[in-house]
Amino acid sequence: MAFTINSLSGYFHEYQKSVLDPAGFWAGIAESFHWHQHWDRVVDWDFNKAYVRWFEGAKLNITENMLDRHLFAHADKPAIVWEPNDPNEDHRVLTYRQLHSAVCSFASGLRKLGVQKGDRVVIYMPMVPEAAIAMVACARLGAVHSVVFGGFSSQSLSDRINDCSARWVVTSDGAFRGSKTIPLKDWVDQALTHCPTVEKVVVFQRTKENVNMQEGRDLWWDAVVDSSVTDLPAVSVDAEDMLFILYTSGSTGKPKGVVHTCGGYMVHSAYTFQNVFQYKRDHIYWCTADVGWITGHSYIVYGPLLSGATSIMFEGVPTFPDPSRFWQVVDKHAVTHFYTAPTAIRALEAFGNEPLASTHRSTLKVLGSVGEPINEEAWHWYHDQVGCGRCPIVDTWWQTETGAIMISPLAGITPTKPAYATLPLPGVQLMIVDENGKELQGNSVQGNLCIKFPWPGMLRTTYGDHDRCIQTYFSTYKGLYFTGDGVKRDEDGYYRILGRVDDVMNISGHRMGTAEVENAINEHPKVVESAVVGFPHPIKGQGIYAFVIADLTDRTEANLKREIVHTVNNIIGPIAKPDKIQIVPGLPKTRSGKIMRRILRKIAEGETRLDALGDVTTLLDPTVVEAIIAGVEQNKAG
Ligand code: PRX
Repeated sequence: MAFTINSLSGYFHEYQKSVLDPAGFWAGIAESFHWHQHWDRVVDWDFNKAYVRWFEGAKLNITENMLDRHLFAHADKPAIVWEPNDPNEDHRVLTYRQLHSAVCSFASGLRKLGVQKGDRVVIYMPMVPEAAIAMVACARLGAVHSVVFGGFSSQSLSDRINDCSARWVVTSDGAFRGSKTIPLKDWVDQALTHCPTVEKVVVFQRTKENVNMQEGRDLWWDAVVDSSVTDLPAVSVDAEDMLFILYTSGSTGKPKGVVHTCGGYMVHSAYTFQNVFQYKRDHIYWCTADVGWITGHSYIVYGPLLSGATSIMFEGVPTFPDPSRFWQVVDKHAVTHFYTAPTAIRALEAFGNEPLASTHRSTLKVLGSVGEPINEEAWHWYHDQVGCGRCPIVDTWWQTETGAIMISPLAGITPTKPAYATLPLPGVQLMIVDENGKELQGNSVQGNLCIKFPWPGMLRTTYGDHDRCIQTYFSTYKGLYFTGDGVKRDEDGYYRILGRVDDVMNISGHRMGTAEVENAINEHPKVVESAVVGFPHPIKGQGIYAFVIADLTDRTEANLKREIVHTVNNIIGPIAKPDKIQIVPGLPKTRSGKIMRRILRKIAEGETRLDALGDVTTLLDPTVVEAIIAGVEQNKAG
């Protein structure tokens, strides 16, 4: 495709073009794709109404650009290379031809089950190629997939199924993750006792454990696949038709369904994949994310396949069977591009350089980081030890809502600085504001990160609740999209993301709302009230600290804490498990009843001096804070 930037001056030139004439800039890129019908208008928008349209009037099917188009040039090139959890099991290779036919056969099977354009299908799968096949098969039919991360509990799953009224669920008997076997189908069964809309469940066999198959509802994957159909014509959809819904946590209430649409997301995910990673035809690219997150959507499935790349899909975890696994996989598949999260880098760094020693990693050209701020120490270890000082690091900042990478170096082109995402990609118009929404111009400023002009991959709404979309993203600062992140622009104009400024935590690169965890904790019958904050954690980036008021009359504190962890596991999943729980006699509240999280955050960070907690004059009862601090000291002593 003709849109890869190949020099720093080229970057500045393209950036300038994208700001002066956004419509012309994106139209030029969109021309590289196959459309059934051209657009009438490139972009139309009004941020005050969260109204954004790209390529309106155009018709397409994204899967033709991911599959059919590549059949002419390189049908036998590996599209997906799957590396299993257990290194002794054989890996699998699906060429573009094989993937195309697998997608068509499964799409035909789904159609026979009644799936049509616009229908929602929930996918709750391990990291096997069939997860990607199911996603792309939905897109082939113009149906909307909503992938739910396999680590979420049955209750989280049922909430998501119900929110989008899905009638189909695609899952597997179970999942292998490290030394664990996870009973996905059991969890689906539990979830479905609360999901009246679901009619059919398609079950892929992965672990071959015995599972319950409900007659009339549950079908094996192999029985659904319609192998007589290997070339199913793709359904033509509008550029602004929904492609997928992906649920993500916010600062209030339940996770919301971020909606992405077909045309803009296609253009943006492919553009950013090729430019950020400087992708070339013979590269072997590996993103270690799970398809249950946006990174897996945009940079395992859509971006790479749209670009005709070879995308590695890894079922396992970084430390199984030992902490050299990632590097073994890099050598085994001659990986050139490796994209992971800082939490994985820190976890592996903690094992020292020994696990690296048995591998050479000489094929690596580019290293990527995503999901959370990367600290300088981890950046240096990644750069110097993993990449032997040869490979540029692309620290990519973006969000579920942005759909694709927004701030990042272009590999080997943009000079990097440890812990800096560096510069905005073409088409991304950033603005830093203070709390009152006043723009902070020039360099050497720090504030809240906003975006002032639409980009093609951005969210269009939150499923079933457009007002929530307006409130969450477009109301804090008038006329701007607010990211929820704090940022610094340094003396060179480089951007460094400082982390969330709202009540969203980032636990091992996963987003988790404090309110969501509190709601789960409060479900325990002995809990009166709770307040949750994030605190710095050496591996996870942030850990979860829960301050809990509880009735301890018939339990020991240790038992209650165990039960609380169990409750959170059941309601959300293990990723929301509190790292620290402190039973407290009260919570610091203002006279109007608002919890002063600022104070709790300081205490969770380890501050025990009353006078260092900032202004406490608005507190209803300042003795509560003294009691909490005394509790911290006691915990330490105990
Ligand atoms: O706080 C930012 C952080 O992750 C948030 C988005 O989370 P999610 O929607 O789950 O998407 C993660 C993968 C794209 C952001 O608001 N974040 C993401 N990338 C970075 C980051 N923080 C610092 N540096 C990054 N490179």
